[in-house]
Amino acid sequence: MPDEERIITPENQSNEDNVLDLTLRPRTLKEYIGQTKVKQNLEIFMQAAKQRGEPIEHVLLYGPPGLGKTTLAGVIANEMGVHIKVTSGPAIERSGDLAAILTNLEPGDILFIDEIHRLNKVVEEVLYPAMEDYSLDLVVGKGPSARVLKLDLPKFTLIGATTRISLLSSPLRDRFGVIYPLNFYEEDEIKKIVERSAKILFTDIEPPAAEILSQRSRRTPRVANRLLKRVRDFAQVRGDGRVSEPIAKQALDMLEVDALGLDQVDRKILLAIIEKFNGGPVGVQTLAAATAEEMATIEDVYEPFLMQIGFLDRTPRGRVATERAYKHLGMPKLSDEGFTF
Ligand SMILES: Nc1ncnc2c1ncn2[C@@H]1O[C@H](COP(=O)(O)OP(=O)(O)O)[C@@H](O)[C@H]1O
Ligand SMILES: [Mg+2]
Repeated sequence: MPDEERIITPENQSNEDNVLDLTLRPRTLKEYIGQTKVKQNLEIFMQAAKQRGEPIEHVLLYGPPGLGKTTLAGVIANEMGVHIKVTSGPAIERSGDLAAILTNLEPGDILFIDEIHRLNKVVEEVLYPAMEDYSLDLVVGKGPSARVLKLDLPKFTLIGATTRISLLSSPLRDRFGVIYPLNFYEEDEIKKIVERSAKILFTDIEPPAAEILSQRSRRTPRVANRLLKRVRDFAQVRGDGRVSEPIAKQALDMLEVDALGLDQVDRKILLAIIEKFNGGPVGVQTLAAATAEEMATIEDVYEPFLMQIGFLDRTPRGRVATERAYKHLGMPKLSDEGFTF
């Protein structure tokens, strides 16, 4: 299935989704729901910097897509009252690109680099002295006449975001003052997000419907907002616009999002492990080939949630489907002794 049709993938959004996302995005820490620990830490961290009249130290945010990393970077900038310049690892191709961005920053500005694990090595090395000493080391000329030109940069804050902290080099990781993991949300937090978004979208949603949406949103705010939008469309076309429990259920069934929020791709991945590889272990590369899914998509998008709900285990020898996954899919499990029960 092409990505645009997927409801679950917390990436690859349509234009309409992007515009709506901007209006749904919290702007302050108070509006930012959940992630209590991170918020508590951030509050003190920001307050202290403000009292000293300094920019905050560099911040690294990591966690699966759709949990609010970009949103939080915006919230930090807003709370600190500074500008934020947004870019991403793959967008900065040459060190000159990064130099141009850095020299254009004003004191106190935040530079947000999304997917920071995808910065190339050469660019990354320009970032080290910039983060550490606010200095830019430019190599001018070539060969024996080449020399290093040191430029002072304004004191800025780098906020990096990544879905794959394990891919970050340790020199880069070490240069962040704080590292915050974003975790999957609690269901009641997702419910609050659904209700907040419904209000912003002028959509009437009954509490049991909000409950169902929060149960099926993979504990991920972006998925919750997307499901809400699709359910709202359904209510408008098939009902009177009000999102009731039956309307929400029908809409989600039509989208093939099940009671736990799994979609066809989740089921395809689990079924492949169970049916083609006897429950695993199977390497992720083999799994990708067997399901015709991108390896990175499996690793970044599907696996984290399947592991979170205890359906999938990562072992050194590969991925394993758990007893719970068998049960949910209604598959008989072969016990260790080789008997089915
Ligand atoms: N803590 C939160 N409270 C309310 N809404 C949130 C929160 N985190 C994320 N969202 C919503 O989810 C969407 C996706 O968040 P985003 O910051 O883009 O995720 P990430 O950058 O981690 O992929 C945002 O547009 C925002 O509306
Ligand atoms: Mg993001």
